[in-house]
Amino acid sequence: MSERTSIHGQWSSRLIFVLAAAGSAVGLGNIWKFPYITGEYGGGAFVLVYLLCIALIGLPVMMVEILLGRRGRQSPINTMKTLAKEEGTTQAWSWIGWSGVISGFLILSFYSVIAGWALAYVIEAASGTFNGISAEQVGELFGDHVSSWPKLLAWHTLFILMTVFVVARGVRAGLEKAVTWLMPLLLGLLLILVGYSIAEGDFASGVAFLFSPDFDKVFYTCTTVAGAESCVFNGEPLLTAMGHAFFTLSLGMGAIMVYGSYMPKKNSITGSALLIVAMDTAVALLAGLAIFPLVFANGLEPGAGPGLIFQTLPIAFGAMTGGQLFGTLFFLLLVFAAWTSSISLVEPAVAWLVENRGIKRLHAAASIGFGCWLIGLGTVFSFNLWSGEAWQVGGKTFFDMLDYLTANILLPVGGLAMAIFTGWFASRRMSESELLLSEPWFSIWWFVVRFITPIGVLIVFLHAVGVV
Ligand code: PHE
Repeated sequence: MSERTSIHGQWSSRLIFVLAAAGSAVGLGNIWKFPYITGEYGGGAFVLVYLLCIALIGLPVMMVEILLGRRGRQSPINTMKTLAKEEGTTQAWSWIGWSGVISGFLILSFYSVIAGWALAYVIEAASGTFNGISAEQVGELFGDHVSSWPKLLAWHTLFILMTVFVVARGVRAGLEKAVTWLMPLLLGLLLILVGYSIAEGDFASGVAFLFSPDFDKVFYTCTTVAGAESCVFNGEPLLTAMGHAFFTLSLGMGAIMVYGSYMPKKNSITGSALLIVAMDTAVALLAGLAIFPLVFANGLEPGAGPGLIFQTLPIAFGAMTGGQLFGTLFFLLLVFAAWTSSISLVEPAVAWLVENRGIKRLHAAASIGFGCWLIGLGTVFSFNLWSGEAWQVGGKTFFDMLDYLTANILLPVGGLAMAIFTGWFASRRMSESELLLSEPWFSIWWFVVRFITPIGVLIVFLHAVGVV
């Protein structure tokens, strides 16, 4: 095991590491993005592929990221540089860190806008707007909300400030406090929502939608020309499912690596990774189970897009007893879940600025926050001023493009490179001495990292560009 320590501090215990990493993983990706892309891509088959990607790609890469981080004990850029040197290979591997810094930057720019929607909904819920609201009214409310760019801008600004504030305070003071009790609370509220969906929603249809796979419907696009139906394979759902596995677990950009660099020495990497992945998956599935029964019971459209949870959950809160309180709490917790993720998006860049430029954490966090705020304007306008076709490229708004570029391309490429570095360019000893796994478990993991994970990612990429 490496004897290095981090200049940025260390988590006070393994539990705190797990909570921090789970705080990074569990966020808008689970509660906002998972339901809406599952709705857009037709349910069951998409969910199944996503779960496969979590198990075969997500879990092994999570272990890779933690082990690289803990061994290098620096920002991802410097960690990769140090480890590459130590393992006798080219220091060009530090580009993994650079690509991660750019991904984090781009992700936060739109993440913050969506988190801003949740902030706005805290106020709506608390002031009783949802009480007795109909499906139609809730749709209008959402429409009014996103069509006003000054409002979106204000909430986006507030969320960026919140992120900068916590990151500036540092690992122990800033990050630890935020994660210790919020996660369990969020889980509790999700369970209440699922309970409501069982009682009042169309639970059977929701479960069927999520868990009965129809591969033809999801992965083939069919057209009928002159009475004859012809179907072609469509690689996009596959790529989105894999990209989302990276996005939801915060992998491929160094967030988990930098958190791993603050992990105490003797903690088990495998046990922690398993816990984090299990929690993240549980939250996503619970969110799906809470939302889809409501979608079907109210005759809503599962493929409604990014507004899905904002157009369904208020109906439930508006109708249930104690809904005003639960609704307020729910959106508040969603904000917190997003907050604990957003801080991990900037931490790799901040750690690097502190290490290499000797910049104070506050200044580093503030400059990065400002950059994200600026690019975030593009996402703010994607839902109003720039929503028209004239502003789209290939049917995608600025926001859609950012989301696609980061989740579907940059994160999987980053994760793939980390797995290849660890499995092929670094020594087996390096991984062995950090993981401390007994046989046959280590050999199985080693095989997966060297072959299964990289081949899996490559196959999905080739399908997506239509080569396979
Ligand atoms: N995992 C977070 C979520 O699901 C998003 C995220 C991606 C955070 C990448 C950090 C790094 O919301």
